[in-house]
Amino acid sequence: MTSVTPDHATQDYIGASDAHSAHNYHPLPVVVATGDGAWLTDVEGRRYLDMLAGYSALNFGHGNRRLVDAAKAQLERVTLTSRAFHHDRFADFCTQLAELCGKDMVLPMNTGAEAVETAVKTARKWGYRVKGVPDGRARIVVASDNFHGRTTTIVSFSTDPEARADFGPYTPGFDIVPYGDLDALRAAVTDETVAVLLEPIQGEAGVLVPPAGYLPGVRELTRERGVLFIADEIQSGLGRTGRTFACEHEGVVPDVYVLGKALGGGVVPVSAVVADRDVLGVFRPGEHGSTFGGNPLACAVGLEVIAMLRGGEFQRRATELGEHLHAELGVLAGTGKVTEVRGRGLWAGVDIDPAYGTGREISEKLMARGVLVKDTHGSTIRIAPPLVIGKEDLDWGLDQLRAVLGA
Ligand SMILES: Cc1ncc(COP(=O)(O)O)c(C=O)c1O
Repeated sequence: MTSVTPDHATQDYIGASDAHSAHNYHPLPVVVATGDGAWLTDVEGRRYLDMLAGYSALNFGHGNRRLVDAAKAQLERVTLTSRAFHHDRFADFCTQLAELCGKDMVLPMNTGAEAVETAVKTARKWGYRVKGVPDGRARIVVASDNFHGRTTTIVSFSTDPEARADFGPYTPGFDIVPYGDLDALRAAVTDETVAVLLEPIQGEAGVLVPPAGYLPGVRELTRERGVLFIADEIQSGLGRTGRTFACEHEGVVPDVYVLGKALGGGVVPVSAVVADRDVLGVFRPGEHGSTFGGNPLACAVGLEVIAMLRGGEFQRRATELGEHLHAELGVLAGTGKVTEVRGRGLWAGVDIDPAYGTGREISEKLMARGVLVKDTHGSTIRIAPPLVIGKEDLDWGLDQLRAVLGA
């Protein structure tokens, strides 16, 4: 039984939050108190089906027993050492994550943006030390409509005015090409290019899947030109699309994986850059770090996540439930109320005919019916429930979407 705090109304919480927190988000007006699997309960005892899963940070659901137990056990032992000392969960975490990725080395951080920053630093250093690019000249090619995080360097190569405006001066060294356009990418790569950084599926942009052959084309081009292919699998990776990595759908192995979100099991922030020794081996002591990166609690939870992914059960669920989700959304698209559906596995970007409301309005109507999703870019909603969701719950969630659209 979930416990709630019935003596405080939702509006009181939201008022208090608005009064004392920066307004960098525009949350739906729901105040969550507890979570269990794919379900959340708010402060007034109302239940909601979570069809967003913390933008894929909660692939294994709320309060996942294995993850909570792993965290609890580690809380009783030791939680933080800083990297000034060794600790006894670190080697296992790095070894097993490297193995999951088929690579040699891991550089653990905390948030996704930190891991992307780390990948940028890795690529630049590799460029100077291994590729032989003249000092200070390294360039990285990125895609339009990318989302890689919120740091000043990362927003420097964003094409979203909201993410970028007023945060200059911007970090130089990035070339932006249209996502999915291999010819544009080919034209942008020069002798000074050290890396191509891409999301294999662009999440924030609306779950955009690139044209078939694009990722293999990027792989071939980067190999030919001696450029690192960095795949930001922070949102697409770790089971969401039905495979451990979204790149696998196209048989592509990048040089560098950037991981985050689900790696921390929705319990603690855990991110990492994973690559072979010829790439990550460029770092020497003192050149990069993080007080919390690779801490014992993070490693304990991360190890459990890796063990769960190794079994393949979550990837299978994402494939099977994903086929069902996309079949049902396809039927909705046939009604014209939904104009386009994109995605892979248990992940969908759904464009709603603007006649039925903005993405925000649709999200609010779904919330009123007990389903939580989030809009992006006008009339798009993203559906990405925890991979532990039951088929009946998924169907119930889809029923609510049909009801909102009067379908
Ligand atoms: C593809 C991708 N990269 C990076 C990030 C940034 O991660 P974080 O919010 O943990 O910094 C996100 C977050 O949504 C993401 O989707």
